[in-house]
Amino acid sequence: MTIFVTGGAGFIGSEFVRQWVEAHPGESLINFDKLTYAGNLENLASLDGRPSYRMIRGDICDATALAEALPEACDAVVHFAAESHVDRSILSAAEFVTTNVLGTQVLLDVARAKRVKRFLHISTDEVGGDIPAGQFFREDSPLAPSSPYAASKAAAEHLVRAAARTFGMDTIVTRTSNNYGPFQFPEKLIPLAISNAFGGRPIPVYGDGLQVRDWVHVADNCRALRMVLENGRPGETYHIGGGNLCANLDLLRLLLRIMDKPESLLTYVTDRLGHDRRYAVDCSKIRRELGWEPAIPLEQGLRMTVDWYRTNHEWTSHATSGEYRTYYERVYGKDVAHG
Ligand code: NAD
Ligand code: TYD
Repeated sequence: MTIFVTGGAGFIGSEFVRQWVEAHPGESLINFDKLTYAGNLENLASLDGRPSYRMIRGDICDATALAEALPEACDAVVHFAAESHVDRSILSAAEFVTTNVLGTQVLLDVARAKRVKRFLHISTDEVGGDIPAGQFFREDSPLAPSSPYAASKAAAEHLVRAAARTFGMDTIVTRTSNNYGPFQFPEKLIPLAISNAFGGRPIPVYGDGLQVRDWVHVADNCRALRMVLENGRPGETYHIGGGNLCANLDLLRLLLRIMDKPESLLTYVTDRLGHDRRYAVDCSKIRRELGWEPAIPLEQGLRMTVDWYRTNHEWTSHATSGEYRTYYERVYGKDVAHG
């Protein structure tokens, strides 16, 4: 069996790659990643030297590079590669459209030409937009994205479903809620808050801090993705969430309590433009069809995450200083990773 992962050097992709290689030691996994600011090979250092794992630096918008890298009749493409940060998409959206929309179409075209057996597309609960209190976003609910990031992810989903309908490709879409855990780039809320709390720096709270998100530990999410890849039904969409609906302020207060840091670090700042008030995914389908349930309760997952960032403070300092970009050079004496 061979699987081809895009964006496997990022936060969720690297967790998936590490889990997959551990669970399938004899099978081949190719990680195709452009290594943007979000791609960090230190996330995959534990796989260095594994013969079944191969990293190829490339852009999903580059059909020639993809065609060279993607093996004929490969068992699955697992497509994580994306520009993923909402705030960046508000500052500048073009790269989001290029990678998330065009890149997904180029990847679909090459996958079809190479007769890939299954295409798993990683999407987000943000494509549903604001979900009113008391309601839940279901797999068959309409899409109503609010940010340029979410709009680009919604467009990508449409292209994936169009490829299934038009060309009969075996595709599956997953929509995950907010992930947290080790190796998350410290621009996202939880690693930013942990890093600032350790350093005694203010933690920015957007607007009134009452926006609700559903937090899922990245290890639980990737276990769900493996189940969907192996047993999901072609053409279907599956929601994956932690069942931990929490207002940002409550989450940050819990985090500060775990870290034994003062709430005075919380600093209200101007709200994000177009900020969605509430995400809430209905995950009954994956539970019913595949028997998946999240195993890591929020407080336990946050404690594990805080411990990880405490133990791996070098990873965070490399991520913030940019030193992670020279990982190959430092370890192998050559820069095959970043130009
Ligand atoms: P990330 O930003 O940490 O990683 C993205 C990875 O994609 C990086 O390794 C980057 O180098 C790579 N990449 C970017 N552009 C590329 C291109 N043109 N060609 C090849 N590789 C490219 O993102 P993440 O948080 O790990 O998210 C992974 C996927 O999951 C994304 O599709 C995202 O939309 C989705 N998602 C994320 C969350 C979350 O909470 N982080 C929630 C739901 C869905
Ligand atoms: P984020 O981690 O950026 O994920 P997303 O926007 O994809 O949900 O943000 C999570 C929530 O935290 C979101 O409501 C925005 C808010 N937030 C802050 O209040 N302060 C911050 O510094 C960041 C990065 C996010």
